[in-house]
Amino acid sequence: MTVRSQSPIPERPRGFVFREVKAGVALSPASRQKSEKWRTHQVLHCDQVPLPRLAERFGTPLYVYSAASIRERYCAFDTAFRDVPHTICYSVKANSNLSILRLLAKLGCGFDVVSGGELERVLIANRKAAKRVVFSGVGKTRAELMAALKAGILLFNVESESELEALADCAEKLRTPASVALRVNPDVAAETHPYISTGLHQHKFGIPIRDARKLYAKAASSTNLNVRGVSVHIGSQITDAAPFGEAMMRVAEMVRTLRGDGHEIEFIDAGGGLGISYAGTNGTEFAESVARYAQAIADPLRSLNVHLLLEPGRAILGPAGALITRVIYRKANDGKKFLVVDAAMNDLIRPSLYNAHHEIVPVCLDDTAECETVDVVGPICETGDFLARGRELPVVQEGGLLAVLDVGAYGMVLASNYNTRTRAAEVLVSGKSVKVIRRRERISDLLRNEV
Ligand code: LLP
Repeated sequence: MTVRSQSPIPERPRGFVFREVKAGVALSPASRQKSEKWRTHQVLHCDQVPLPRLAERFGTPLYVYSAASIRERYCAFDTAFRDVPHTICYSVKANSNLSILRLLAKLGCGFDVVSGGELERVLIANRKAAKRVVFSGVGKTRAELMAALKAGILLFNVESESELEALADCAEKLRTPASVALRVNPDVAAETHPYISTGLHQHKFGIPIRDARKLYAKAASSTNLNVRGVSVHIGSQITDAAPFGEAMMRVAEMVRTLRGDGHEIEFIDAGGGLGISYAGTNGTEFAESVARYAQAIADPLRSLNVHLLLEPGRAILGPAGALITRVIYRKANDGKKFLVVDAAMNDLIRPSLYNAHHEIVPVCLDDTAECETVDVVGPICETGDFLARGRELPVVQEGGLLAVLDVGAYGMVLASNYNTRTRAAEVLVSGKSVKVIRRRERISDLLRNEV
């Protein structure tokens, strides 16, 4: 066994940090009496708020987001692209909570939506943001196309000939012209999990770059479609800037060809996909990674005089969220140790689905605590229900709290009701203020639509 003498997350982006507190300070009076021997020196905070206080007030499992961190990361993106005319269209699928969309809209952010539902969320959060919305996705229905036309969105990223025909049809019915970009598939390989790689010809996404010219001609011949851009998205959680640069070079070449054909290309939508370090990076490293990304994307486009659209999701929200969970039981099977916690794969599916690594830390750190190797598992009846396996963690007793980090993106949005488990509550912390941005679900919410 080893003894931990320092915080397991020494340098992280602002948002979730350990702060020294006097024993008992972070808890309510009731639990303070129970913890006379409490030797904790460091307590994990979200901005100015100690997480044990949030867990007591709102229960667990609980998603907690840092408003400061979301703002900071959005601004890092915006700054990295300051030399290029651009609009950041935050990818709503990463975290679609209305309060988060509202926070981003206030900063001038646009949105990338992939369904009528996501569009509706954006319109509720901020009606005026419609003019900064791009609509992506391989299976937009006519009803969704109509809704987006009525809302007056900025751009449709069209992914097939059939979709182009459907859009022309809808635009004609509504007598509203549609602004169109074709999503081209640049056939660029990017190293990421196979489920979230999208830029190769064998994937369902986009139009092969060599077929695109023909389709642009078809789009231009329709009176109800305005050809305005080219879009691309090569995948998600890509940490190397090179594939983005490679894709952009192919897109730049395409834009020159299309302009030669007489099309007015004003927009290049570079998609999303910039990865984060799930081992945690500090603020500077993030700024550097966005700067490298911005350079890879903007360089090939320098002479083209286009307006760049970007669709980051994870890079803005990922590290801004943590999932707080309580240890229900400790158990050992033939010497193998388990922490059975109250969050499960229905709350956070990334470890089960992608074998993704998320840092897990005790919310209250006693720096004399010994470490042990454990599997952190949920109560769901599947062996695949785990948050971490074979993880070395400081010993946490039953009733203790853990924080699963970097879950702001693709955490709550992928939550389900498997095992008739109600979905967690979400809170947004800004400085010292705490706002519930989604109430904890009740069983009655689940049963409401059943007959
Ligand atoms: N634009 C398009 C067209 C996309 O398909 C996506 C993500 C994004 C933007 C945003 O990508 P980001 O910047 O967040 O990487 N559930 C998976 C990730 C799926 C990503 C799907 N598309 C995960 O948990 O890793």
